[in-house]
Amino acid sequence: MEIDPDEVPSLYRTLAGAVVPRPIAWVSTTDPDGVDNLAPYSFFNVVAIDPPTVMFAPVDDDGSPEGLKDTPRNVRATGEFVVNVVTESVAEAMNETAATLPAGESEFDRADLTRADSRTVTPPRVAESPVAFECSLSEMVDVGGSTMVLGEVEWVHVADEVTTDGKLDVEKLDAVGRLSGSLYATTADRFSLERPP
Ligand SMILES: Cc1cc2nc3c(=O)[nH]c(=O)nc-3n(C[C@H](O)[C@H](O)[C@H](O)COP(=O)(O)O)c2cc1C
Repeated sequence: MEIDPDEVPSLYRTLAGAVVPRPIAWVSTTDPDGVDNLAPYSFFNVVAIDPPTVMFAPVDDDGSPEGLKDTPRNVRATGEFVVNVVTESVAEAMNETAATLPAGESEFDRADLTRADSRTVTPPRVAESPVAFECSLSEMVDVGGSTMVLGEVEWVHVADEVTTDGKLDVEKLDAVGRLSGSLYATTADRFSLERPP
């Protein structure tokens, strides 16, 4: 099959089906009225180590007044967000938080999740998630029908149970990734490759 992007209605299924598994940023924000928001974003990755920078990319929401989903709208208003890592034990709760809720209702409460105070930003982190990155907004970049949010990591929370000898242990983390549609992958099946010199 050959695909000319100009000749198909959308490349979403091909991009989202081939760029897999995608890590999931479970992003907490707080709106200017103090309501905590939580939503998953799998267009997510690390961008730089120095300064430590992550990105996620919400698709624009044409139905909302500013054309943005709640998460990017809160980030733009407050300059702050927290990326919580999604593990097997919280995958179902994460999925719950993708629901569209009426203004003023928090996904933390809908999914029965516990807010834990952050150290450097106002939005709480998800207590059930073992790793959280507190971030300050670096830049929001328009990319056609999406907005790329770049943030600098200001503080990191790592739960003791996912560490070995004082370091984050990926084998204990059990992070999950998104495949296509409703399919997810665990990181339980691991193999090792020696890197060439
Ligand atoms: C695993 C998963 C990954 C998602 N990734 C994205 C994404 O990368 N970009 C996006 O715009 N929406 C994504 N969504 C949909 C949003 O989570 C959904 O639109 C949500 O309601 C947005 O919430 P908010 O308006 O509170 O920010 C994803 C949903 C799920 C379940």
